[in-house]
Amino acid sequence: MKQLSVLIIGSGGREHALGWKLRSSPRVGKLYFAPGNGGTAKLGENIDIRVEQIEELARFAKKGRIDLTVVGPEAPLVNGIVDLFQKRGLTIFGPNRRASQLEGSKAWAANFIKKWNIPHPESFIFNNADKAKKFVKESKWSGMVVKADALAQGKGVIVCVSKAEAEYAIDEIMVKKTFGDAGNRIVIQEKLTGEEVSVLALCDGKNIVPLLPSQDHKRIYDDDKGANTGGMGAYAPVPFVSPKLQREITKTILKPTIAGLKKEGIEYKGVLYAGLMLTKEGPKVLEYNVRMGDPETQPLMMLLKSDLLPIINSCITGTLKKSQVRFKQGYSVCVVLAADGYPSSYEKGQEIHADNNYSNNNPFVFHAGTTQKGNTILTSGGRVLGVTSYAPTLKNAIKKAYDFINEKKVSFNNMQYRTDIGKKAL
Ligand code: AMP
Ligand code: GLY
Repeated sequence: MKQLSVLIIGSGGREHALGWKLRSSPRVGKLYFAPGNGGTAKLGENIDIRVEQIEELARFAKKGRIDLTVVGPEAPLVNGIVDLFQKRGLTIFGPNRRASQLEGSKAWAANFIKKWNIPHPESFIFNNADKAKKFVKESKWSGMVVKADALAQGKGVIVCVSKAEAEYAIDEIMVKKTFGDAGNRIVIQEKLTGEEVSVLALCDGKNIVPLLPSQDHKRIYDDDKGANTGGMGAYAPVPFVSPKLQREITKTILKPTIAGLKKEGIEYKGVLYAGLMLTKEGPKVLEYNVRMGDPETQPLMMLLKSDLLPIINSCITGTLKKSQVRFKQGYSVCVVLAADGYPSSYEKGQEIHADNNYSNNNPFVFHAGTTQKGNTILTSGGRVLGVTSYAPTLKNAIKKAYDFINEKKVSFNNMQYRTDIGKKAL
């Protein structure tokens, strides 16, 4: 069997988890990460190219005879990395630029979702701050969500509980331009209430195979308090998403999304991530992402029994089958260890200490903001590590992850983490 050279683009816990899973495939030979992190350096070779440098990435893939490129984050997808690689005859996994508008423009996504009748919060689009504020003043909603149109590193969404807060958010995004040109246009949405779940699905252009439902924990502190972050932990599967609800999500959200795109002449290949609110009226889409979630990927890869490489190949060739995607029974929990101060400013360069006699198995420690320097691993980002456990029950998976953390098997100065990942579902 010919082994394939694989390039993974990105440097987070998601990319470490994808690499860890692909490393176990007998069909994967050389593994490269661009730019990767301290953990991925142990699985393959880190290449010093940033995710925004799509031209350089294509050149590297061509020269290095990369057989398959897997894209982790959204920015290169939205910037058309898939179109560029395809033009150069390179094989790549992810949606093309047009399909990536689902995440790249919240206004585009809001129009799309309305047009194809997919359940969503009521949304209005504005290009002008005064008109937006007038709308807020006259609105019947008390709570609303103000969203910068374009990518803002996950920070462009402001959840407001009053009209005053919404007006302030409009100023921040449209007048002060806190997120730059991403805030030239905004979407204002009614604020929904309920439990949030992440439903990710593999798509091959025609067929879709949903992965296990997972739940992220976006806020920095326990009990969903404090600022929004990239995600402080996740678990899968979600016990309160019943098989019936999963079928409803596939029928009313995933399938109509792919079908709507198709009718607009867009073939979706890659991972479609629907961020859902389970409301009293049923599941509604808060946001689409056009990639795997971080940290949702870490528990999902821990649970995936099947070889990931043939699954990705089938998505690319349009031959995806449900029977290819098998999960272990049981639960996986990922607890993110973050730097003190995150999601605001934080210190980098802290040494990460590991207990000599711990085996990186279960829990597995996925790296995110880390770099290797000689024989030491230093912190280099806000979300540093993701301690990811597996157990037959959710309760035991939670215990396994927290025992590991409490015993300081791996630690760094002033690390902060939530102590309630997964606990709401017990
Ligand atoms: P996003 O960056 O689009 O994932 O949004 C960040 C977070 O904002 C989501 O995970 C939700 O917690 C919250 N959010 C976004 N849209 C809404 C909405 N319409 N109603 C309530 N919460 C929302
Ligand atoms: N965990 C949220 C995201 O990946 O966008």
